[in-house]
Amino acid sequence: MERTYVMCKPDAVQRGLVGEILKRFEQRGFQLLALELQHPTRERLEEHYGDLKSKPFFPALVEYMLSGPVVAMVFGGINAVKMGRVMVGETNPLASTPGSLRGDFSMVVGRNIVHASDAVESAEKEIALWFPNGVKNYTNPIIQQFVY
Ligand code: PPS
Repeated sequence: MERTYVMCKPDAVQRGLVGEILKRFEQRGFQLLALELQHPTRERLEEHYGDLKSKPFFPALVEYMLSGPVVAMVFGGINAVKMGRVMVGETNPLASTPGSLRGDFSMVVGRNIVHASDAVESAEKEIALWFPNGVKNYTNPIIQQFVY
């Protein structure tokens, strides 16, 4: 089963949007595999966003992500990575259509409420970074019925 890493950013936690984000992934049919409220360290965030170190917005991005706890989640499903990106919307909320999380709940890229992995390889790296003790896979028998 493909897995993706999804993270409610500090503004989503502060605005009470965690339940809404989780609900949307559940009702779409993703399997919840892990969920934890975390207070990330600067080191972990710098590793998570390591590819962006040279970008001008990198310091502001790290400060934003340090502004409060995040909710780290792992979801499984068919095409979970690409489907997760559809659920979240575009990086810039201005380009995100209503119906996506960013299209419904955010206005600016610097407060875009949620992260979802952009590729299968980065998803596995992010899962290992945020859940260093591992994430157990399981088969949900109800969701399984719909796989044909
Ligand atoms: S880029 O420039 O193409 O590499 O950016 P992108 O891949 O679209 O986005 C990577 C992550 O950087 C965040 N981002 C920003 N944060 C703050 N300010 C600005 N201007 C900004 N631009 C991009 C963006 O939300 C992505 O983070 P995640 O957590 O993946 O959403």
